[in-house]
Amino acid sequence: MTKIATLEINGNKYEFPIIEGTQNEFGIDIKTLRGVTGGVTTLDPGFKNTGSCESAITFLDGEKGILRYRGYSIEELAEKADFLEVAYLLIFGELPTAVQLEKFDADIKEELHVDEDMKNILDGFPKSAHPMGVLSSLTNALIAFNPGSVDVASDDAMYRAIVKIMGKFPVLAAWTMRKRKGLPLDYGDSTLGYVENLHKMMFARPNRVYTKNKIVNDALDKLLILHADHEQNCSTSTVRIVGSSHAGLFASLSAGISALWGPLHGGANQAVIEMLEAIKADGGDTAKYIAKAKDKNDPFRLMGFGHRVYKNFDPRAKIIKVAAEEVLADLGMEDPVLDIAKGLAKVALEDEYFVKRKLYPNVDFYSGIIYRALGIPTEMFTVMFALGRLPGWIAQWREMRQRKEPIGRPRQIYIGEGYRPFVSVEKR
Ligand code: ACO
Repeated sequence: MTKIATLEINGNKYEFPIIEGTQNEFGIDIKTLRGVTGGVTTLDPGFKNTGSCESAITFLDGEKGILRYRGYSIEELAEKADFLEVAYLLIFGELPTAVQLEKFDADIKEELHVDEDMKNILDGFPKSAHPMGVLSSLTNALIAFNPGSVDVASDDAMYRAIVKIMGKFPVLAAWTMRKRKGLPLDYGDSTLGYVENLHKMMFARPNRVYTKNKIVNDALDKLLILHADHEQNCSTSTVRIVGSSHAGLFASLSAGISALWGPLHGGANQAVIEMLEAIKADGGDTAKYIAKAKDKNDPFRLMGFGHRVYKNFDPRAKIIKVAAEEVLADLGMEDPVLDIAKGLAKVALEDEYFVKRKLYPNVDFYSGIIYRALGIPTEMFTVMFALGRLPGWIAQWREMRQRKEPIGRPRQIYIGEGYRPFVSVEKR
C-alpha cells in the first residue's frame, strides 16, 4: 500500500505519496506540490533534505557509516577489486566477467591518445596554473576534437563515449602535472594496467628507465576506488544537472571537475596538507588550531573534518588511515605531518565541540598523506580525486540520461524589491 504524507497549509490539506527505496529510505514525492497548492514551493538551501533523483548506483548510510557501490561494500571492493573492475561495476551495474573486463581494458587502451593539437591549448596556460583549472579546460576542449553528441539511446554509442573518456582523461590529468614540471608530454604504455600506466604517465622521465612499484600501485588503486562514487555530492550533482540540459558528457564532466576543486569538497585534500604543514611550521601546537576551529569569530575550519552525510564516521577514512600507515611503513618513510594529523584527530575526537556536532575525520584527512608519500605534488591531490571520481560521474550521467530525467531547474523564494518604476540616470 502506498504510504502517504499529509501537508496542511492555511487549513487546506494535501496528500503526497511516500517513495520507498530498497534500503528503507523514505522520500516524500512533492512533484505535484506547486500545481495542487497554487504555487507553494519548498525551501532547502544546500539541499540538506532534498532528494534530487532516484538512483541505483551508490548507497550510503551516514549514521551507520555504510558505503556500497551497486550493493558491494567499499571495504570488500577496496580489498579485493581493482579500479577498472570498480569503474565497470559503477557504470554498467555488474562486476565484469573476465572477458568483459579484458575488452573494457583493451577498448580504453585504444583511446590512450589525445589529438596533438590539444598540446597547443595546454601551452597557452602558464606553468603556475592550478592543475584542476587546466584539467577542467582540457576536458571541455575534448568536445571540439570529438564533436557530435552521444546517442544516449544506443548502448554502443554510450560505450564508445565511456571508453573514450576513460582513456583520454588520465592522459590529460598526467599532462597537467608534466606541464608544471616542464616534462615532455607522452602517452604512457598500453602494456601496463590502467593505474600503473597513470603512474607512469605522471612520473616517467626522459632520462630514466621507468620502474614499476607494487606498493605505490596498490595504494593508488585503493585510493581511486575509495573516491570512485559518493552518490549526490556537489560535483556529481553538478554533472547530473549540467547533463540534464543535454549538454554532452565531456561538458558535464568539465563542470564536475570545477565543482570538485572547491576546498569544501575535493579541494579539501590539498587544504588538509597545507593546514598540517602550517601547524607544523607554527610549532605543532594542535590545541591552538582546535581552539581556532571552535572560535565562531575565526573563519578557520579544521580541513578534513566533518561531512554532509557521515555523522558517525566516514568508512573511507577508516580504510585510508590504515592504508596511510601501511604505505609509510612499506616505503620506509616517517612523516611528521602524519604525527600532527594523528594528534589533531585524537584531540578533536575527544573535544565536546566536535563530538556534539559529529565532526569526524573524512576521507581527505588521510588521503593527502598517502599522496605525499607517493611523491604526488600537493596541487595534484584534487586531480587524483577527479581521476578516482571519473567512473562515478560517468555512471551518474548515464543513469540520468537513460532515465530521461527532466532538466534540473530549482525554484527560489524571492526576497528582493517589489515593482519599482525605472528612474533615468540624471534623476538618480
Ligand atoms: N571545523 C570546525 N567546525 C566545523 C567544521 C570543521 N571542519 N565542519 C563543520 N563545523 C561546524 C560548523 O561551524 C557548524 O557549527 P554550528 O552548528 O555551531 O554553526 C556545524 O559544524 C555544522 O556545519 P555545517 O557547515 O552546517 O555542515 P555541513 O554539513 O553543511 O558541511 C562540510 C559539511 C562542508 C564538509 C563541513 O564539515 C566542512 O567545511 N568541513 C571542512 C572541509 C572538508 O573537509 N571538506 C571535505 C568534505 S569530504 C569530500 O568532499 C570528499
